[in-house]
Amino acid sequence: MVTRCIRIDKDNIDESMLRMAGEVIKDGGLVAFPTETVYGLGGDGLNSASSEKIYAAKGRPSDNPLIVHIADMNDLEKIAYDIPELAYKLAEKYWPGPLTMIFKKKDIVPYETTGGLDTVAVRFPSHPVAREFIKCAGGFVAAPSANLSGRPSPTSADHVREDLDGRVDIIIDSGMCDIGLESTIIDFSEEEPMLLRPGFVSDRMLEDVIGNVTKDPAVFGDTVTGVAPKAPGMKYRHYAPKGMLTIVEGNPEDVSKYILEQIKTCGDKRIGVITCSDKTAVYSDAAFVGDIGNRGDEYTIASRMFDLLRQCDENEVDIIFSEEFNTPQLGQAIMNRLIKAAGHTVIKV
Ligand code: TXA
Ligand code: MG
Repeated sequence: MVTRCIRIDKDNIDESMLRMAGEVIKDGGLVAFPTETVYGLGGDGLNSASSEKIYAAKGRPSDNPLIVHIADMNDLEKIAYDIPELAYKLAEKYWPGPLTMIFKKKDIVPYETTGGLDTVAVRFPSHPVAREFIKCAGGFVAAPSANLSGRPSPTSADHVREDLDGRVDIIIDSGMCDIGLESTIIDFSEEEPMLLRPGFVSDRMLEDVIGNVTKDPAVFGDTVTGVAPKAPGMKYRHYAPKGMLTIVEGNPEDVSKYILEQIKTCGDKRIGVITCSDKTAVYSDAAFVGDIGNRGDEYTIASRMFDLLRQCDENEVDIIFSEEFNTPQLGQAIMNRLIKAAGHTVIKV
């Protein structure tokens, strides 16, 4: 398949291009599109064959459900039922935006989209191109992140091209994603709401609106429980660069000392380091130094992380060391991705 790339300026949207891309979805094709979190790999969420195509294009296990993206609040009740009042409150505050909510699914949503589950994950993104595209595509766009399964999530159209060129009909390029981390996921399909994946909407932001939120212990616990996470995708090794990633925790001086020692003694291995702007000069002997932004600027740190993991690959790094980034609001979401990318390899110095 030949993949066509179209550039759409989010401040000056070319409607006719989006209508064309929407028709491709309605005809059962695949279109990668920008959102405020990461790029999505979209297909018609109400068409089982389209969902099967998404799994094939991504190389994703078919028990890992897809998020259905909507662009009109009235469409929520067409695909979900038993929606509690608290969910409407969250929707009022954070939709459109980087929040996904899980509900019981109506029959119109095929099991191919939900990985065989009786529930459906729904998100109403805020990105203007995403919103317009979803409308043009019929209103229900199933989309996982537009990366090959296991690779870092794509925060630019270049990342999507790297992974999916020849596997999708169209890639819509609207530049870098603002947030750069996937949406927060909260499950409303059972008695108590449960947080399944941390994201830009932090637990504090959720609790401000709906009170106490239980967290999936398999995802948020300090120890590995042996219990499977409720969001099937959270159990897979993920986000992984080709080089072996280790997170180094400790006070900043000890962390630098440790990493410098590794650079000195690594022989012919190529070492990459992911660090904040104030420390890049310290690691000038490394094969690659990724500047993740100023220590105090957690939005930049979040938005650069996946890109830097990919840059480590481009620089053919064998071993990667990263600092930890336990920042106030986004730290939990950032470290959740980084720790998975490292396959839980964390060294305390
Ligand atoms: O920001 C995002 O959420 C991006 C953009 C494209 O919207 N999408 C995204 O999709 O991150 P994906 O497929 O990479 O991650 C979705 C996660 C997976 O871990 C999946 O297992 C979980 O959501 N999920 C989807 N439907 C679910 C359901 N019905 N029950 C439990 N978990 C579900
Ligand atoms: Mg993903």
